[in-house]
Amino acid sequence: MSGLADALRAEIRRTGPLPLARYMDAALNDPTHGYYRTRDPLGAAGDFVTAPEISQMFGELLGVWLAYSWQQMGSPGDALLVELGPGRGTLMGDALRATQRVPGFHESVTLHLVETNPVLRRAQHAALGAFNPMWHDRIANLPPGPLLLVANEFFDALPIDQYIFTKGAWHERRIGLKEGGLEGEDFVFTVGPPADRVFPPGVEGAIREEAPAGHAMLRQIATRLANFGGAAIIVDYGTANGETGDSLQAMRGHARHDPLFEPGSADLTAHVDFASLAAAARQAGATAFGPIEQGPFLETLGIAHRADVLSKSDPTQSGKIGLAVKRLVSPTEMGTLFKALALTGPQQPTPPGFAEKA
Ligand SMILES: C[S@@+](CC[C@H](N)C(=O)[O-])C[C@H]1O[C@@H](n2cnc3c(N)ncnc32)[C@H](O)[C@@H]1O
Repeated sequence: MSGLADALRAEIRRTGPLPLARYMDAALNDPTHGYYRTRDPLGAAGDFVTAPEISQMFGELLGVWLAYSWQQMGSPGDALLVELGPGRGTLMGDALRATQRVPGFHESVTLHLVETNPVLRRAQHAALGAFNPMWHDRIANLPPGPLLLVANEFFDALPIDQYIFTKGAWHERRIGLKEGGLEGEDFVFTVGPPADRVFPPGVEGAIREEAPAGHAMLRQIATRLANFGGAAIIVDYGTANGETGDSLQAMRGHARHDPLFEPGSADLTAHVDFASLAAAARQAGATAFGPIEQGPFLETLGIAHRADVLSKSDPTQSGKIGLAVKRLVSPTEMGTLFKALALTGPQQPTPPGFAEKA
């Protein structure tokens, strides 16, 4: 059993059952044992595969989105090109390659990577070192300036709280210990104190989620957009209109895993509630567009044309490229579950791929 599990057991014995966000934060971000502090989780040998690792087309199209948004901003010379949770740097590498001929773009932006994982920071250095990136632990450390921001599968990796409706009221859902339980199976969900906020009543056993860490980061982004202008594109899996229910899941070796087994050993994620992110952005003074589904978004940005160009330049790869397009846009794969939300400063026109304000 890991040192982290023992430390969490001791904490529960000392303070009582833990809020889910505390458990997730420890499992993901504990400086010594946290899942996102100790490994590269991506790819065939890891726990999951993300869109930029499926095909270069994903990062290329988002790069074009960012460069077009920069032009819509009036091509400022001091823009911050920011990625939250850049993984191996694949998305940003593809984005920068695809935009190298956009006149003035590369000369006008400085690259900022918000990343806490030292293993992935090394991979990002290998992929993006030529662009002189600056690394930051948190959004608050970014310098001032107009913002061009991209985040793919970042918000789903942030800790959430859960609430359960029971005996006529919402209560916190916490993580306790089943004393005498088998080691490894002794962390259990418990019903905690009544919720300290008002939610609409549910049915007995209903679960709802709140994402305080994601909301805090979203507000920071939106406040910067309101103050300095710019555009942000957030892609993730989640719901467009409303609550997520119980969406907590753990992935290990590309398979579902028990989220309470061996904390720190599996990726813990939750679906993103895009409607509440959009509302938080508007409250902070930014404009929100979407969310729209990833499939139509990538199609509007021209994925079919890009696939055609790549296939013609190397016909031996055309089968693989066709499969990648299917994986990214098909409603039965990533095309519907994954969604894109755009945020802009108040003066910015409608960004590419989006038709209406959220
Ligand atoms: C699911 S991976 C996605 C990686 C990449 N965006 C991609 O699409 O391949 C999540 C990324 O966010 C980083 N991350 C997770 N929590 C973070 C936090 N609180 N602050 C900064 N980075 C974080 C991880 O280390 C990783 O780079």
